[in-house]
Amino acid sequence: MQSLQGKKALITGGSRGIGGAAALALAKEGVELGLIARSEESFTAISKDLNDIGATFLTAAADVSNKTEVQEAVKKIEDELGSIDILINNAGVAARGSFIDLTTDQWKKVLDINVMGIVHVTQAVLPGMISKNRGDIINISSMSGLKGTEGSSAYSASKFAVIGMSESLMQEVRRHNIRVSVLTPSLVETDLTRGESGERNPDKYTQAEDMAEYMVSQLKLNQRTFIKTAAQWGTNPF
Ligand SMILES: NC(=O)c1ccc[n+]([C@@H]2O[C@H](COP(=O)([O-])OP(=O)(O)OC[C@H]3O[C@@H](n4cnc5c(N)ncnc54)[C@H](OP(=O)(O)O)[C@@H]3O)[C@@H](O)[C@H]2O)c1
Repeated sequence: MQSLQGKKALITGGSRGIGGAAALALAKEGVELGLIARSEESFTAISKDLNDIGATFLTAAADVSNKTEVQEAVKKIEDELGSIDILINNAGVAARGSFIDLTTDQWKKVLDINVMGIVHVTQAVLPGMISKNRGDIINISSMSGLKGTEGSSAYSASKFAVIGMSESLMQEVRRHNIRVSVLTPSLVETDLTRGESGERNPDKYTQAEDMAEYMVSQLKLNQRTFIKTAAQWGTNPF
C-alpha cells in the first residue's frame, strides 16, 4: 500500500456528485486538488466543504468538451500545484430519449462531453505523467458502457467508447508506470439520477461517498499493480 499524501490530483466534474465526493476523500488523504467544472459558481458548496477540512485546492471553470478551455484550466492548475499525479476523468452528462427522438445536437453534446472531454483533459495531463514515469488515471464509464438499455443509446455509446479508449490508453502507457483504470458503476445516487424530489435513499443505493472510498483504496495499491476495470453495484436496490 502507498500513501497518497502530497500527491496532486485533477478531478473533472469535481464540483458535486461522484467527483465532489472524490475530492473530499482525497483531500482527507493529504492530496492537493485541482477541480474542473463548468462555472466558478458550481464550486461554492464543495469549496466550503474543502475549506472546512483545511484542504489545498484550486478550482478552474472549463467545459471539458472545449479543448482550449481545458488546456487553459490544466495550465492554471499545474502552474500552481505542479504536475498532476492522479487524473480522475469524471465529468459527464446523461441524454435520455428514444433512438428516433434523440437529436443530432443531443448526440454530439453527450459524445463531446463524455468522450472528447476525456481526450482533451488526458492529452493535457499525460505528458507530465510520462516525464515523471508514473501516474494514475481513473476514467468513469458506467454500467451503460457494458450494456445498452432502452432510451440510453447516446449515453451508452459514449460510455462504451470510454471503455475502449481507456483500454487502448492503458496498453500504451503502462510501460511508463501509469495505471489507467475504468469504473463502470451501476446507479449512484447523485443529481444525475436522484430525480426531482431530491430525496436520498442511502440504504438502498450506492452513494457518491462509496465510489470515493473505492477510488482511494484503489489508488493506494502498490504502483506495481492496478485494477483494470471495476463495477460498483448497489447490494439490495429492490
Ligand atoms: N450517478 C450515476 O448513477 C452514475 C452511474 C454510472 C456512471 N456515472 C458517471 O459518473 C460521472 C459523474 O456522475 P455524477 O452522477 O456524479 O453526476 P453529477 O452529480 O450530475 O455531476 C456531474 C459533474 O460533471 C460536471 N460536468 C458536466 N458537464 C461538464 C462539462 N461539459 N465540463 C466540465 N464539467 C462538466 C458537473 O459540473 P457543473 O457543476 O459545472 O455542472 C458536475 O461536477 C459521469 O461521468 C456519469 O456518467 C454516474
